[in-house]
Amino acid sequence: MTTKKPWGGRFDVETDSLVEAFSASVGFDRRLYKVDIAGSIAHVSMLAHVGVVTDQERDTIVAGLGAIEAQIEKGEFEWQEALEDVHMNIEARLVSDLGEVGKKLHTGRSRNDQVATDVRLYLRDGIDQLNQALVAFQGVLIDLATAEADTIMPGFTHMQTAQPVTLGHHVLAWVEMLFRDRARLSDCRKRMNVMPLGSAALAGTTYPIDRAFTARALGFDSATENSLDAVSDRDFLVEFNAAAALIMVHLSRIAEELVLWSSAQFEFIELGDGFCTGSSIMPQKKNPDVAELVRGKTGRVCGNLMALLMLMKAQPLAYNRDNQEDKEPLFDTLDSVLASVRVFTGMMPTMTVKRERLYQAARRGYSTATDLADYLVKKGVAFRDAHEIVGKAVRAGIDSGKDLSEMSLTQLQQFADCIDQDVFEVLTLEGSVAARNHLGGTAPEQVRLAIARARERLNG
Ligand code: ARG
Repeated sequence: MTTKKPWGGRFDVETDSLVEAFSASVGFDRRLYKVDIAGSIAHVSMLAHVGVVTDQERDTIVAGLGAIEAQIEKGEFEWQEALEDVHMNIEARLVSDLGEVGKKLHTGRSRNDQVATDVRLYLRDGIDQLNQALVAFQGVLIDLATAEADTIMPGFTHMQTAQPVTLGHHVLAWVEMLFRDRARLSDCRKRMNVMPLGSAALAGTTYPIDRAFTARALGFDSATENSLDAVSDRDFLVEFNAAAALIMVHLSRIAEELVLWSSAQFEFIELGDGFCTGSSIMPQKKNPDVAELVRGKTGRVCGNLMALLMLMKAQPLAYNRDNQEDKEPLFDTLDSVLASVRVFTGMMPTMTVKRERLYQAARRGYSTATDLADYLVKKGVAFRDAHEIVGKAVRAGIDSGKDLSEMSLTQLQQFADCIDQDVFEVLTLEGSVAARNHLGGTAPEQVRLAIARARERLNG
């Protein structure tokens, strides 16, 4: 059976079957059905408002679209590849259900402004869902930071032990990344929330349309300024995907730390059984696959960003069919990021923190060496000299297998005679973290203040 094309009027020969399969997008763009129908309802309501269709015609079309939506939701709608995309599938069905009146829906509209509107509506909802998911993720992280505000661990630079920090402070660093991610999403949402409908194919339309009416009905802040730009602009997809790529890069950094920390060599944490998998050959294994998959999905989301940038590169105005290629990267990015954030949100509360292991790890690696240097400075030694003195003490410690805090006072005094008994207060891990007691510092007291502020920002 050959399906009659809604645009078939000027064609003598039917579409080649290769082309039909090659150009059809309904296999993936059917996901837009809900926003497509919402857009059509707003459009026909506007047409009635300005008198291009009667109120009765509007009501018939709105009811017809509602029936189609219900069918799609029940899985009973028959999608046809020959009808190319979601837009023509729904419209053709409306015409076959309603007859003549169904043909009036597409008055003063083109698929070009229709699809540009649909994608914005779809992504707007996606951004809202993603923002909600990020809020939930930040919530569990702040809970974790609260429980671990006093937990001491080694802080790393170059992946080498640097200075002791609190785990609460480390987790709050992740929370900050996510605050910036959410700010980027909300910024992108603002620029995106402008309505292309009314731009028609590229030049606008001859009907007396009321674009402000349609924009209001669909929750857009305004209507686009320029019809050529409106049908061809996909900046918002690039912006969103850039924000999403950065979210994934952040998640991959968290993932990497979780993978390292759960190894037998670190043994800082254990992830819940429900969020790990075993090996088919090595019985002892418990693998952090969730974290690894999140790390892995970062690659495809960054790839999608590149795909969208290259899709837009050198496209002349206005709409080009190239733009149909925008949907798969968009859907894949949305699915990947949402799933990753949600699975991390589920996993975090299953994590056991091995506080004693963290503490012992912080004791190794001379993590309080800077504290000793600062101590000497307070006793009047210049910082560069203090650095040299402590370097020698560390060297001696490495040779004798002792941490600085394990040396006796006499041993320490060999390096600088101004060292006193009070040095042991700064050489302890507790003393070291407590001393960094300022905005942005790792002291438990500051972590608690930062948590209070983060909770307020989260709810505000
Ligand atoms: N499926 C098309 C897309 O996603 C819809 C717009 C088609 N417009 C056209 N003039 N062929 O971009």
